[in-house]
Amino acid sequence: MKTIHLGFLGFGTVGSGAAQILEQNAQDIETRTESKIRIKSALVRNLDKPRPFAENIAFTDKAETVLEDPEIDIVVEVMGGIEPARTYILEALGRGKNVVTANKDLLALHGEELFNTAKQAGKDLYFEASVAGGIPIIAVLKQSLAANKISALLGIINGTTNYILTAMSEQGRNYAEVLAEAQELGYAESDPSADVDGVDAARKLAILASLAFNSRVTLPDVFVEGIAKITPEDLQYASELGCTVKLLGIAKHLDGGVEVRVHPAFLPKSHPLASVNGVFNAIYVVGDAVGETMFYGKGAGSLPTGSAVVSDIIQVTRNIHTGSTSSINCTCYHNLPLTESQDFTTAYYVRLLVKDEPRVLATLALLFAEANISFASIIQKPRGHEQAEIVLVTHPCREAQLQDALDSVKAYSKTLTVYNVIRFESGI
Ligand code: NAP
Ligand code: HSE
Repeated sequence: MKTIHLGFLGFGTVGSGAAQILEQNAQDIETRTESKIRIKSALVRNLDKPRPFAENIAFTDKAETVLEDPEIDIVVEVMGGIEPARTYILEALGRGKNVVTANKDLLALHGEELFNTAKQAGKDLYFEASVAGGIPIIAVLKQSLAANKISALLGIINGTTNYILTAMSEQGRNYAEVLAEAQELGYAESDPSADVDGVDAARKLAILASLAFNSRVTLPDVFVEGIAKITPEDLQYASELGCTVKLLGIAKHLDGGVEVRVHPAFLPKSHPLASVNGVFNAIYVVGDAVGETMFYGKGAGSLPTGSAVVSDIIQVTRNIHTGSTSSINCTCYHNLPLTESQDFTTAYYVRLLVKDEPRVLATLALLFAEANISFASIIQKPRGHEQAEIVLVTHPCREAQLQDALDSVKAYSKTLTVYNVIRFESGI
């Protein structure tokens, strides 16, 4: 029986999870791949750190020990970051090794270069763990839904923000308090800005949209807004309007163009994504043949993400045996134009505080009418002395129209504060 040798770049949360699975399920994996799969060496920063599931692994702080070892068949990059991970992956491919990576930051920026290099080398570059941890969405888009033209993909693809929004919504707690709790529980990073600002979700969306529409989307192409401005009041109004608020990654193929955006959205409670709560992730995909589908699971963590890494290792091992590495690398054969954010068309929730006087509501209606926007509903509640909180829900309009109306509303002397503006998402 052939032995497949792995060289790990990194052995932290994900690396040790993959090692645990390779050890615990060794017998089944051996039968499924007709191979013994062995982690030969692993690059780390700190050689003195105690590491679980590390028996018989040669730890090193020198990348060349892994990259230049002719015995290593598959390099598993689970160190993260852009550099030196990019250089190491390019070098591994150049040296004729297959690569498995979990690195969304890198793929969302340099995917094209990496996939082209893998193709030239005739090697595999697999990346299931880069999006939504244990949910096998990459294989779904590359293979299982390959018969379809995909028109829309909506995802809850950041567990930290979904945890925060769920706790705020269900318990009426404020953002800062729940964020601190998410950090204590280890869901959010110690610097959670990439999570709460939407950038982590945008990286994942860039990877998913590239696969869904066969057209390269990179991180700077994605419109991003985070959740920091969401308050318990907004969540309460969402509920009154039959919605829940989610940080959504939204990718749509419309009129020949691609729209990619990450932002909090009012989502009808009847939508399948609306009941995805806590740290869970889910991705809803609409294909012309299959219709609506949804994939749900744990989007992060040592074993769920390790599951994706090991599944990739198993598939690459099978490809090595059949001599079919590089059979599906880059799938971006289109070059579709991106929709400008000014042209995004959605309904909006606008919450503001105004003076409670005659003609104020009529003037607000006029200011929106001048931007050619009509209202779907209006809620007004008294607030303190001669003030009123107003929630305006618009019919769908272009982002540019909404900005025009908001400029006028902010300049209006009876407007005291515009608290928040949140887009609606109907689902497909
Ligand atoms: P982690 O726990 O911080 O582990 C990183 C590992 O890489 C550590 O072993 C570290 O060494 C090593 N390392 C980092 N930079 C290095 C350098 N310059 N030279 C040598 N070794 C270096 O990170 P992780 O959570 O496992 O994440 C790994 C990758 O998986 C990232 O791309 C991440 O985005 C992705 N990912 C993570 C999750 C998750 O749930 N954690 C989910 C999906 C995807 P030391 O151990 O010595 O510090
Ligand atoms: N910080 C990420 C999340 C981890 O909260 O979903 C997985 O990428």
